[in-house]
Amino acid sequence: MGQHRYMLLSAFIVVTLAACAKEEPAAPDQTAGNTVAAPADGAGVRTLAQRMARGGKLYAAHCAACHQASGQGLAGAFPPLAGSDYLEAGPAAVTDVILNGLKGPITVNGMVYNSVMPNMSYLGDGDVADVVTFVMNSWGNPGGEVSAGEVSAARSKAVP
Ligand code: HEC
Repeated sequence: MGQHRYMLLSAFIVVTLAACAKEEPAAPDQTAGNTVAAPADGAGVRTLAQRMARGGKLYAAHCAACHQASGQGLAGAFPPLAGSDYLEAGPAAVTDVILNGLKGPITVNGMVYNSVMPNMSYLGDGDVADVVTFVMNSWGNPGGEVSAGEVSAARSKAVP
C-alpha cells in the first residue's frame, strides 16, 4: 500500500513537472545569457535576414546609446560603426572589442578617439554573434558573419 501511494505520488510529480515544462516559453536560444528570442525556425539554421533582425534589436539595446541608432557615432566621443575603417579588420576584431572592451587612442576614418568602451562580455555567445553580424552587414559595411561557436572560442581566449 505504501509502495502504491509512493508510485502515485511520483506519477503526480512527473505529470506536474511535465505540465510546468510545457508552460515555459520556448528557450530563446541554445546559448545561456541570450536576451532576445531567436526566431523559431525548427532546424536551428537561421538566414542572414533572421540574424540581422535579431542583431538589430540587440544593437538598439546594447550599442545605440553610444554609437547611435544609425551607427554614425558622436564626434569626439564615440567612433562610428557605419562605414568605420576599423571594421576592415573583419568580424573577429569586432567580436574582440565586445568581449574585451577597448580603451586608449584609436583612429577611425582619420579621427582620433581616446576613450573607453566597457567590455560587454555579459552578452551570450549567440547575442554577440548576431550583433556583430548586424554591424558588419549594416550601413554599407563590408559584410561578414560570426557564429556563436566562434564567439565562444574567442571568449575562452579573452583577457578576464
Ligand atoms: C558606453 C558606450 C559604448 C557602448 C554601449 C558601446 N560602445 Fe563601442 N565604443 C565606445 C567607445 C568610447 C569606443 C572607442 C574606444 C577607444 O577610444 O579606444 C568604442 C569602439 C568600438 C569599436 C571600434 C571602433 C569603431 O568605431 O569601429 C567597435 C567595433 C565598437 N565599439 C562596437 C560596439 C558594439 C557592437 C557595441 C554593442 C554591443 C558597442 N560598441 C557598445 C563606446 C561604446
